[in-house]
Amino acid sequence: MAKTILIVGASRGIGLGLAKEFKSRGWDVIGTERDRSDELHGLDGVRIETMDVTKPETFTDFDTELDAVIVNAGITGAEHQDAAKATADEVAHVMMTNAFGPAHLAKVILPKIKDGGTLAMMTSLMGSIEDSSGGYDLYRTSKCAQNMLAKGIAEQNANSRGIAVLSLHPGWVQTDMGGPNAKITVEESAKGLAEVIEQADGGYRYLDYSGKELAF
Ligand SMILES: NC(=O)c1ccc[n+]([C@@H]2O[C@H](COP(=O)([O-])OP(=O)(O)OC[C@H]3O[C@@H](n4cnc5c(N)ncnc54)[C@H](OP(=O)(O)O)[C@@H]3O)[C@@H](O)[C@H]2O)c1
Repeated sequence: MAKTILIVGASRGIGLGLAKEFKSRGWDVIGTERDRSDELHGLDGVRIETMDVTKPETFTDFDTELDAVIVNAGITGAEHQDAAKATADEVAHVMMTNAFGPAHLAKVILPKIKDGGTLAMMTSLMGSIEDSSGGYDLYRTSKCAQNMLAKGIAEQNANSRGIAVLSLHPGWVQTDMGGPNAKITVEESAKGLAEVIEQADGGYRYLDYSGKELAF
């Protein structure tokens, strides 16, 4: 029987690429959008749900058991990115979208993930304190917070059921967020991420799309 994966934030960019990649690997794919994505609707046999990670009332109550979930949704945050300029609303928006919303959704969806399954959270190398050279204050701190929340879910809720929790860095990818000068294509990133997810076996790891371990 085909395995089932839920990809949250599959309307475009890496999430859409992951939907195509997992489909081509024979998985049943459920993809989410906020507004209608013609590209997502153009994929054959993909089940589509509407969800916003900042709005718990939109979290679908799935009737299906899931083998894997990828919470891919994310934003850069206010253009200035500067802690000295950030308003409370800007901080709340980036933190809810990149850290607390994804963690809330992960906790709600966890009971639907099969024992031994995988929960992947899309983070960034920019969330690594060890790697940071500063700048991008809003984005970096939100992804750093997401890593903390993901490890908490692994330790407290997931690992005891054999569910692997992965904080994944997709590489610097040619998307609306990554821009045209990014180093790798969506297809390269999605292929690598799919391999990492298919090989996950319990525990909590912070990895990039090639399976390389990253420092916190
Ligand atoms: N591109 C890179 O180089 C790079 C590097 C490191 C990490 N990442 C991470 O990888 C993930 C995907 O990035 P991307 O480059 O594909 O970005 P993107 O092209 O800007 O796509 C972002 C995706 O997230 C969705 N999204 C945004 N806010 C959401 C919300 N509140 N609820 C649900 N979905 C929401 C978007 O949906 P809409 O279409 O509705 O806006 C879209 O599907 C992000 O978490 C990002 O931080 C990207």
